[in-house]
Amino acid sequence: MKGILLAGGSGSRLWPLTQVVSKNLLPVYDKPMVYYPLSTLMLAGIREILVITRPEEQALFRRVLGDGGQFGLRLSYAAQAEPRGLADAFLIGAAFVAGGPAALILGDNIFYGDGLITLLAATRERIESAPDAGASIFSYTVRDPGRYGIVELDAAGHPVGIEEKPARPKSRNAVVGLYFYDGRVTDYARAVRPSARGEIEITDINRAYLEAGALSVTRFGRGYAWFDAGTPESLIQAGAFLQAVEERQGLKVGCLEEIAWRQGFITTAQFDAARARLPDSAYARYLAEIRDNF
Ligand code: G1P
Repeated sequence: MKGILLAGGSGSRLWPLTQVVSKNLLPVYDKPMVYYPLSTLMLAGIREILVITRPEEQALFRRVLGDGGQFGLRLSYAAQAEPRGLADAFLIGAAFVAGGPAALILGDNIFYGDGLITLLAATRERIESAPDAGASIFSYTVRDPGRYGIVELDAAGHPVGIEEKPARPKSRNAVVGLYFYDGRVTDYARAVRPSARGEIEITDINRAYLEAGALSVTRFGRGYAWFDAGTPESLIQAGAFLQAVEERQGLKVGCLEEIAWRQGFITTAQFDAARARLPDSAYARYLAEIRDNF
């Protein structure tokens, strides 16, 4: 399965932090924000990824991530000139996806939790298993549902309704920014018309799958952390959370070289070569440490 990482958007909610740098390159504790969503796609076992950025920021992302070879990935880049909405990722990425299944992750979404890797790999395998396997999305309980896509579930956990930023939310189940779709997604994306806020909404793609009886929702339970780090408050919350977890365990979250190595995307020799290119830093010392003790 291919993956799309959407790192466009104006970052207006983070102004003035985003005057000269993309929101998705801002620091979240000890790494650029984009490391975390990229690592989530890697944990799902996805290695061929299209990174969508604003045109003027593409060079910065290339400097940070390159062609992905150092992480055993194949990264390509595309530009989104205007923030037209999340569904636009599948219009920009239509040739890349080429009618096959695809996962989309938003460049400001950070996931953490035990069992994540198993859940994501199983979801990818299920959506890859048949051309009409449907869509798989995830929900997370939030205090402030009006800020998100919200899904309403019946007693059996099946979705019965989905709305974007509802004024009167029917539940507190926010739809997180990670979506797995079968090959129908491009056609559904083409059919989406702009919403009241002038964007082509990912929620409308999800509703199309729901109406086709092909949407499944998995809840991330209380043992997971999910951040949409697109506001000053959530940016510092995510950083503080990751600092606490990393400091306590002596293990890093979203360390791309480590994940590539543990997932078998790169050999130990390639891992060592990637390490050798890094400047002396806590990050490089961490990689040296896990190399021989894990
Ligand atoms: C977007 C989606 C929304 C989703 C959220 C998750 O919102 O439109 O459905 O719940 O991402 O981060 P936005 O960040 O565009 O406000």
